[in-house]
Amino acid sequence: MRITSRYFVAPTVGLLALSLVACSSPAVGESTEDGPVETTTLRLALNQTEEHPSFIALDAFGERLLEATDGRWDIEVFPNETLGAQAETLQLVGDGVVDMAIVSGAQLENLSKDFIAFNLPTVFDSVEHQISVVNDPEITGDLYSSLADSNNVSVVGGFTQGARSVYTKNAPVESPKDLAGQKIRVQESELFLSLVESLGASPTPMAFGEVYTALQSGVIDGAENNEVSYFTQKHHEVAPFFSYTEHLIGLDYLIINSAKLDGLTDEDRSAFDEAWAATYEQHTELWTEATDKAIVDAEAAGATFTEVDSDAFIEALEPIVEQFLTEPSQQKLYDAARDASEK
Ligand code: GCU
Repeated sequence: MRITSRYFVAPTVGLLALSLVACSSPAVGESTEDGPVETTTLRLALNQTEEHPSFIALDAFGERLLEATDGRWDIEVFPNETLGAQAETLQLVGDGVVDMAIVSGAQLENLSKDFIAFNLPTVFDSVEHQISVVNDPEITGDLYSSLADSNNVSVVGGFTQGARSVYTKNAPVESPKDLAGQKIRVQESELFLSLVESLGASPTPMAFGEVYTALQSGVIDGAENNEVSYFTQKHHEVAPFFSYTEHLIGLDYLIINSAKLDGLTDEDRSAFDEAWAATYEQHTELWTEATDKAIVDAEAAGATFTEVDSDAFIEALEPIVEQFLTEPSQQKLYDAARDASEK
C-alpha cells in the first residue's frame, strides 16, 4: 500500500486542502531520455476504509497506471469519505473539483433512470455475472457516456458490492413480517426506498458515513449492506444481527470527470483501460476472501449471521421490477444483462 495517510484529516479540512491545491496536480516526476516527466495525479474519492477491497484495488490501479504511462498519470485514493459523501463527490467530479470517485448505482439512478436496469434485484445471478456485464461495452452501449453532456461525468466501469442483506439492532429477521415498523437506512434513491418499503420496513435515506451513529443512537433500527462494509464500517458493533435477505447484488461505479478523461491521449487512454481491467479483476478476486474474513471477524466480535425465509423475500420483491422497469432503454439493458447469464 502506498502512503496516503497524510490526507486522512477531517472532511472539511480535506475539502479545503483540496480546493487550495485544485484538481489533478501536475508534478515533475522521473526523468527519461527526453527529459523530466510531468506526472498528473488524479484524485479519487472513496467512502470505504483502507482495508476494503475497493481501496486496495484502486490504490494498485494508480501504480499500474503510473507504470503503464511511464509516469505521466497517477491516481491518489482518498478513503473514508474524506472528500465527502457519495452524493457530494458525484457533484464534485462533475464540477471538476475531484477527478474520480466510486459511487453506488443508487446515486447514478438519480441522474438517469437507465441506471436502474442494473440496480434491480433480479438482474444479476452472481458477482461474476454482474462484473462481466457491467464491464462489457457491447452490453453497456452508450450508458456510460450518457451523463457526459448533462453532468460532465463519465463511467469507467463497475465493481461489485456483493449481495446486500439486512442487519438490525435488536433481533434477527426471518421473514418480511419481522421488518414491520422497523426503520431501515437506505441509500438515497427511489428504488432503494421502494425496495425496503416492499419488504415491510420503513426506509430512512442517509449517507453511508452517517449510518454507524444513526444505529448507535437508535435513529434507525437497521440497515442493509454486504458483509464487508458491515464489518469495515463497524456496524456489527451496533447492529449485531445480520440476516441473509440477499435482496440484490449491489453495484459500484468508477466515475471520472469527462473533460479529464477526454484529455488523455489515445496511448494513455489504452493504458488507462488496460489498468482498469486488471483493477476490477483484482477487486473481484479480493471480494470473496474479504467477505469470508468479514464474517469470521464480525462473529468473533459477537455478531450473528442467520438464514431467512428466502421465498418470502423473493415474493415481496417481485413487484419492484415491473414498477421500475418502465422505459424501453432500461428494458434493453436489462435484457442484455439477462441474456449474458449462464443460467
Ligand atoms: C456499499 C457500497 C458503497 C455504498 C454503500 C452504501 O458499501 O460499496 O458504494 O455507498 O454500500 O450503502 O451507501
